[in-house]
Amino acid sequence: MSAKPLVSIIMGSANDWEVMQQSARALQDFGVAFDARVISAHRSPDLLFDYIKEMTAQGVQCFIAGAGGAAHLAGVIAGKTTLPVLGVPIPSKYLKGMDSLLSIVQMPKGIPVATFAIGEAGAANAGLFAVAMLALNDATLATKLTAYRQQQADAIKATVLPAL
Ligand code: RP5
Repeated sequence: MSAKPLVSIIMGSANDWEVMQQSARALQDFGVAFDARVISAHRSPDLLFDYIKEMTAQGVQCFIAGAGGAAHLAGVIAGKTTLPVLGVPIPSKYLKGMDSLLSIVQMPKGIPVATFAIGEAGAANAGLFAVAMLALNDATLATKLTAYRQQQADAIKATVLPAL
């Protein structure tokens, strides 16, 4: 997206993109400008700090961070900015993302990270949550969000179970 980003999506590895693209899609669906990057808290910490500074200067309103395993990315970002940080646990090979979830959700008191579900649902919801935060100060976005919720309610109402 070419407009100034309102949301920054950071993931620890290119392998996380399969999941994290759900955050990007949610933002794109609502027309929210975002920037998405692969930056690792442990493989490229200096780059991470520079990028947080750059995005903050550009006016992003929140960060979405996706990471797997010993997933400290979201916590490190939260330690460097007072902007809201939304953490997405990436499914991992051996522990199925439970390691990622606990690493992100168990932040010590004082530096919060809003933690979402493991995997695609969490990534999509992080995007939708960012939209909800932005909609607090954007009436057009708020109207779109209400319409999106209504679509879901309508789909449930119209659901007919197959005959036995
Ligand atoms: C984390 O380690 C990444 O977020 C990724 O989920 C995990 C494994 O990274 P790769 O070995 O797949 O690059 O930093």
